[in-house]
Amino acid sequence: MPASARPAQTLGVCYYPEHWPEERWPLDARMMAEAGIEYVRIGEFAWGLMEPDPGTYDWAWLDRAIEVLHKAGRKIVLGTPTATPPKWLVDSMPDMLPIGPDGRVRGFGSRRHYCFSHQGYRAECLRITEAMAQRYGTHPAVAAWQTDNEYGCHKTTLSYSQAALHGFRDWLAQKYQSPEALNRAWGNVFWSMEYRSFDEVELPIGAVTETNPAHKLDFRRYASDQVVAFNRLQCDAIRRHSPGRPISHNFMGKFFEFDHYDVSADLDIAAWDAYPTGFLDRELGDPELIKRYMQIGHPDFDAFHHDLYRACGDLRNGTAAGRWWVMEQQPPGPLNWGSYNPAPHPEAGRLWVWEAFAAGAEVVSFFRWRQPSFAQEQMHEGLLLPDGTPNKGYALCGQIHEELTALAPLSDPARAEVALVFDYPSQWITEIQPHAQDASHFDTALRAYAALRRAGISVDIVPPTAEAIAGRKLVVLPMVTLIEPAFAEALAACEATVLAGPWAGSKGHNLTISEGLPPGPLRALIDIRIPRVETRRPFAPIPLAKGGAFAGWREFVEPGAGVTVVEETVDGTPALLQQGRAFYLPGRPDEPAFDRLMRHVLDAAGVAWLDLPPDVRLRDNGPHRFLFNYSGDPVDLTALFGAEDFAFGSPELGRCGVACITRKT
Ligand code: GAL
Repeated sequence: MPASARPAQTLGVCYYPEHWPEERWPLDARMMAEAGIEYVRIGEFAWGLMEPDPGTYDWAWLDRAIEVLHKAGRKIVLGTPTATPPKWLVDSMPDMLPIGPDGRVRGFGSRRHYCFSHQGYRAECLRITEAMAQRYGTHPAVAAWQTDNEYGCHKTTLSYSQAALHGFRDWLAQKYQSPEALNRAWGNVFWSMEYRSFDEVELPIGAVTETNPAHKLDFRRYASDQVVAFNRLQCDAIRRHSPGRPISHNFMGKFFEFDHYDVSADLDIAAWDAYPTGFLDRELGDPELIKRYMQIGHPDFDAFHHDLYRACGDLRNGTAAGRWWVMEQQPPGPLNWGSYNPAPHPEAGRLWVWEAFAAGAEVVSFFRWRQPSFAQEQMHEGLLLPDGTPNKGYALCGQIHEELTALAPLSDPARAEVALVFDYPSQWITEIQPHAQDASHFDTALRAYAALRRAGISVDIVPPTAEAIAGRKLVVLPMVTLIEPAFAEALAACEATVLAGPWAGSKGHNLTISEGLPPGPLRALIDIRIPRVETRRPFAPIPLAKGGAFAGWREFVEPGAGVTVVEETVDGTPALLQQGRAFYLPGRPDEPAFDRLMRHVLDAAGVAWLDLPPDVRLRDNGPHRFLFNYSGDPVDLTALFGAEDFAFGSPELGRCGVACITRKT
């Protein structure tokens, strides 16, 4: 199968044969087959067993594990073990360890104890990857690869080591060519921060107070490039020895330490790890939200990432055949890493899996097969209990497998009418210089995305490129602070309705205020100037005249002659502005305000929307339309969908229910 071909949807699981007695493996493999689990990911943390002593490989156990799975007809995703370098390796070059922002070494004893910039460690990773790829690259059971595991997890992208310092200085020298050019670009005249040579530049930590934001932004760019280079080395080695096997990496949720579009350009499949109840607890924080969705997960958070990583999967293969997986899916049980770890609603696991398939995932692979009774993750549920007997997740696999088999294979979701731009440098800018502690590009993008989903819209999340916005009806730019010239031209040249703001186009490449004031290059679309932006605490919102409020972020806009003020705040500042096909939103609306404003813009763009009940979401996939109920109460959608044909389910959605309509058009 060519690396870009798109198989039908199927299930997978993450398996650690090395954790269990070998006599058990055949039973595990048989049980996987019986539950319809086709893909089995193995190997990604097992360097210590693969190479117990420097240069002495022990492949025998892995040969046998692969054989057992092969005999049972399972397909293997082989993970390179570079997230867990063994102790002997660390001891042989201790300077490969990452250094935290406090300047302290982050040592051995867990995982991800390496610095991406360390050339010696990169060489070791290439060696073990090459050895694995040579041994297993053409094995008939090896169907795909995963490089490393969750790049950057546990805050390991930014390391402040000597390797990073020297790498950064070289990177700067290549980018700026002279220290004078760097001084100008960063504005080092401020506070006498000039450098006379690149060797004088330090990493942006350890100063008395905030370091120069332009310095930080370039360090973020440098660190991101190191992840790209680190990953590329492994991809190249695998491709040399394992032709035709797609290569993936498992990204994370709400994780922006490197540019995922750049890393994905070397992958065949973008994958990510979806843990709905954990994200709600750890990433979304708001007690009201947690109370409402703690057993289900946020109705838009995971979906946002499905759409984001589908865009990443598109990068290598062209827009038609974007390949993406959920490499680790939370089982329908408690996790171990939230501050609290509630048991999901009994039906939530099924909803999570269908939301992913509806968004175009080829494989949804559960983490993990069997709950361990030892070490760090013993309180994390698996499909099996620690004693090897089935837990609830095991039965769920069988059920989903049957449903998948009954349904005609899903297609890749068609190109959506609405594209929402997500951009990593824009996120870095809002992290480096936030104007309100809770406002970031991601947070604002999620609000806009949720407003679209509440209106029943299927959205593509896209990078800021001309190709990604071509042919759209609506392009949304929520806090896309950095709009580089090529994308500004594409926006000006396209025919889409554009909803920009808040804070879109507000910054230049070196984190300066845009020329001629924000929204900088967007003035080609809408003639406004923003001389002031205020942010307020969550308990002091800015009410809008027609209801709802700006939740703590407001820009004061001076409109040019051709600009219409569509809505205002109660105290009389513009709340939505329009000129021709361009709208500017000068604030972060709360849900009621966003629903109204977004629907106004959708009407202007000619995009049909639906008035769905609050916790219902919808996703179109070719001839299929999926309905999801993100609430613990049943909901009756007969008035909206009663006349439709249902492939499964009905308009009466049970608690956490899923239904699938076969569309007539
Ligand atoms: C992921 C990681 C897995 C496992 C899992 C637990 O972040 O890739 O190895 O730790 O979390 O939920």
